[in-house]
Amino acid sequence: MTEQQGIRLVDLDEDGVDRAFRADVLTGLSQPQKAIPARWFYDERGSELFEDITQVAEYYPTRAETEILRGKGAQFAELIGEGRAVVEFGSGSSVKTPLLLSAIAPAAYVPLDISGDFLRAAAADLSAKFPSLPVHPVEADFTKRVELPAAVNEMPKLGFFPGSTIGNMVPRTAVDLLREMRQTLGDGALLLIGMDLIKDRDVLESAYDDADGVTSAFNVNLLARINRELDADIPVEAFRHEARWVDIYARIEMHLVAQEDVSFAVSGEQFTLQAGETIHTENSHKFDKRSGNMLLLAGHWTPMERWTDQAERFSLVLARAATPRSAP
Ligand code: AVI
Repeated sequence: MTEQQGIRLVDLDEDGVDRAFRADVLTGLSQPQKAIPARWFYDERGSELFEDITQVAEYYPTRAETEILRGKGAQFAELIGEGRAVVEFGSGSSVKTPLLLSAIAPAAYVPLDISGDFLRAAAADLSAKFPSLPVHPVEADFTKRVELPAAVNEMPKLGFFPGSTIGNMVPRTAVDLLREMRQTLGDGALLLIGMDLIKDRDVLESAYDDADGVTSAFNVNLLARINRELDADIPVEAFRHEARWVDIYARIEMHLVAQEDVSFAVSGEQFTLQAGETIHTENSHKFDKRSGNMLLLAGHWTPMERWTDQAERFSLVLARAATPRSAP
């Protein structure tokens, strides 16, 4: 496994199985609370279903964040200034990234993604929209420190991490990631980060359990993926999608709930669940102003400015790279 540009980052065994996927599934299903990391949702079908989720009526984050990006361009330009290299953590969507780029006149755009396919598609899309903007895609796991292309070494950086993907990490992992971003982007960097806001339980639970069943299909697809890729025989129809607000952790949890006693094999290992037992598949943490700021500070970023959409459902926070200090 290597992190160099242009070289495949996925580590496949002799049968073409992703070793990390199999290890995460086998370990996760062996825990007292069965759990599989949410990053495995995003095979081709899962990525399509996620795009569909962003369009359903109940899922407000994408629309709310786009509203902020559309409406606050002049303020971004004033605070961020021109001539930065925009480093996007995860390949940019075709809507959000152009809104930011056209507001701030950057000197370069560096999309980072572990999936070369998404990365190339996003880079081509952006180059077509901004023909004079240098685009330097980097195939990398952005949860670790990333070596940026030499061409942007001397430019001040703006990290862009939209979508509230930070909320999909438990606080410890989120802090680790923010610190890695701080290292990757260097002194003088800024970070523009999406953070979804705490709101009524009903609104949150419906956003993750839409009436058309798109989020349910997204969750259940993980089981189909395990069956397809890991030589498994999980009875997919025996599981039901559930989204629950867990107030003490300020997060939506997604689970797959066994409707009856089930047993199945994955890569030759046997597992059983009793009726009502669940597989925990995702956390989506929500923030208020102070908890969001505290997370950023712990991650070595100093909050500077914060914007919300009109209905105050979602926030975008601008922060600057903190300099290390231990004294008050
Ligand atoms: C990618 N991430 C920010 C989404 C979220 O809202 O936590 C993933 C998602 N899961 C279900 N719906 C959307």
